[in-house]
Amino acid sequence: MSKLNLTLKVWRQKNANEEGHIETYDAKDIPIEASFLEMLDIVNERILNDGGEPIHFDHDCREGICGQCSLTVNGIPHSKERGITVCQLHMRKFKSGDTIWIEPWRAKAFPLLRDLMVDRSAFDRIIAAGGYIDVRTGSAQDANNLPIAKTKADASMDAAACIGCGACVAACKNASAMLFVSAKAAHLNLLPQGSPEKDRRVLGMVRQMDAEGFGNCTNLYECEAVCPKEISAENIARLNRDYAMAVTREALA
Ligand code: SF4
Ligand code: FES
Repeated sequence: MSKLNLTLKVWRQKNANEEGHIETYDAKDIPIEASFLEMLDIVNERILNDGGEPIHFDHDCREGICGQCSLTVNGIPHSKERGITVCQLHMRKFKSGDTIWIEPWRAKAFPLLRDLMVDRSAFDRIIAAGGYIDVRTGSAQDANNLPIAKTKADASMDAAACIGCGACVAACKNASAMLFVSAKAAHLNLLPQGSPEKDRRVLGMVRQMDAEGFGNCTNLYECEAVCPKEISAENIARLNRDYAMAVTREALA
């Protein structure tokens, strides 16, 4: 079994009120088969054995599904590998002697909790402001009886792949949440079950996004580049159009 000897530069911070700093750890004898999070588990076990405080980081499914893992690896949210979450990153992508910088998502709307963990509840509040359908839409059988154009169904399902990880915000120099909000709005707005509430949804979600302190989108496409689910920035254009129509209809009502 091949082993790696690495140097980790890890952001440590007790809480949002205390200053943080980079701490250096030797990560010796890391199996090449380990995932990135398993590598951190090994390092944490050694820190605990030495009586230290383990590195706090978020994770849950470790399968790229839940959106909990949120590490910036060498300056890039989820690492430089495309189309994967950091829990799907494997140590075979590194070589012995590498130095790896590990930091949290950095955005005003994602306040730091501890070390590499941030509070992403702003996303929950955006969903609560409109990212749902109010009425019962029936069972799977009923849904299957509704004719939906294949192009619309595909676009909706592609948008629904968003796991709410927040990497798009972390990658954007404006800390814009437009890719997340546009995906969550699009997957409902595009379907007949979601379109009757489209205006209310779009106005509510965009206004909540602004209230949470996320920045404006200036078409840098960093969000699209780091998104582990490869959500398309076309959703942002769609949201801008829907928002303009909703604001106009609201003003005329
Ligand atoms: S759009 Fe992509 S990067 Fe942003 S929250 Fe959704 S899955 Fe994560
Ligand atoms: S831990 Fe669930 S997506 Fe990474």
